[in-house]
Amino acid sequence: MKPIQVGLLGIGTVGSGVFNVLQRNQEEIRRRAGRGIEITMVADLDVERAKKVVGEGVQVVSDARAVIANPDIDIVIELIGGYGIAKALVLEAIAAGKHVVTANKALLAVHGTEIFAAASAKGVMVAFEAAVAGGIPIIKALREGLTANRIQWLAGIINGTTNFILSEMRDKGLDFAVVLKEAQRLGYAEADPTFDIEGVDAAHKATIMSAIAFGIPVQFDKAYVEGITQLSATDIKYAEQLGYRIKLLGITKRVERLGADGKVVGGIELRVHPSLVPSKRLIANVEGAMNAVVVQGDAVGATLYYGKGAGSEPTASAVIADLVDITRLHTVDPLNRVPHLAFQPHTLDQAMSELPVLPMSEVVTSYYLRLRVADQAGVLAKVTGILATAGISIDAVLQREADEVGGEGGAADGTRGIPQTDLIILTHDTREGTMNDAMAQMQALPTVLESITRIRKEELN
Ligand code: HSE
Repeated sequence: MKPIQVGLLGIGTVGSGVFNVLQRNQEEIRRRAGRGIEITMVADLDVERAKKVVGEGVQVVSDARAVIANPDIDIVIELIGGYGIAKALVLEAIAAGKHVVTANKALLAVHGTEIFAAASAKGVMVAFEAAVAGGIPIIKALREGLTANRIQWLAGIINGTTNFILSEMRDKGLDFAVVLKEAQRLGYAEADPTFDIEGVDAAHKATIMSAIAFGIPVQFDKAYVEGITQLSATDIKYAEQLGYRIKLLGITKRVERLGADGKVVGGIELRVHPSLVPSKRLIANVEGAMNAVVVQGDAVGATLYYGKGAGSEPTASAVIADLVDITRLHTVDPLNRVPHLAFQPHTLDQAMSELPVLPMSEVVTSYYLRLRVADQAGVLAKVTGILATAGISIDAVLQREADEVGGEGGAADGTRGIPQTDLIILTHDTREGTMNDAMAQMQALPTVLESITRIRKEELN
């Protein structure tokens, strides 16, 4: 059988990896797919550079639409990124009857509903293993390997840049801004690292996983997103003393509980934020730029997926797995293929309406709080009194002596000379809305000298 023909849009780091791995492993890939898979056309604005990567025998053009218009191309790989031209090209490729493979998490998290609907209407596949956690086959695991399970929750370190920064902060006791500069110098963080450090990239990935895990639409706009820019080396150190590491987690969870008004709150939590994780959990020990995802299913229990979340050949590994899947399935009746988002589309309407993404105020979790307070009689009692009145149960309290927190420095105006101490409080589970109210009351105490630090805590058990 003649090889399936692939057109590649964008041959940068990942595209080069796809080309090279396909060439290197072509015989094994052919035996797995049942026929050869060949990149026969590439579009890239830098035609000369692209030609150097692919050599003779592959047509290189600067116009991506020429690839989409080529009737010989069966599959289009989109590696351009972003929501702009990439969205138009993906929709045009679908309209032209091409199957699409993309690594574009931003595009799918924001416009996935439109894109998957267009693909279903046209009877083509849109595959996106590379969009989440790079080389880790987490989409395949969630969509197929765990298909027997009612997924209860998943939590992942799904951004390598921020995990690298957090590892360095912990190892070297340095603050965020210092490590970010170093990470940029070493090429671990991009010149504009906003999407990574503000948690947006992780939220795109969490959004996609949430849809597949629970059969809800992709809805990035409902995700709670908080990055790592406010984290200090001090909190990482205190967390460590309490037996925790701080990780930027993407979390999605199916919940059903009594809300503040006594009514049942049912829905999906979808959130990205720094989290204290017990040091003894495997995922807490994922360091550097590595990624990992824990998935809890009712039948299988907890499963852990670990590997490289970015990079040329790790990401190419995921892209090529999608090419093989499409090659195996493209002759199958579209209704009998693996559904894009794991659940058969005609069953989704009911599931969608039943499972809203919950507002952050309805999320229930435990907390790490750090309060810089005046070291005076009664301060601890006032703080714990507010928590007690709010019904927030304390798990542990740690007080650092003045000399350990900079003596009688007085960081804020008017506090110079006042003996100070850090109060670190771990709480049991409580509603975020309840915690917000209690924090506002504690912050208003004259003896609380700085903004209270709040980091959520996930036991992941
Ligand atoms: N910038 C991402 C990361 C990789 O740091 O993990 C691509 O999503």
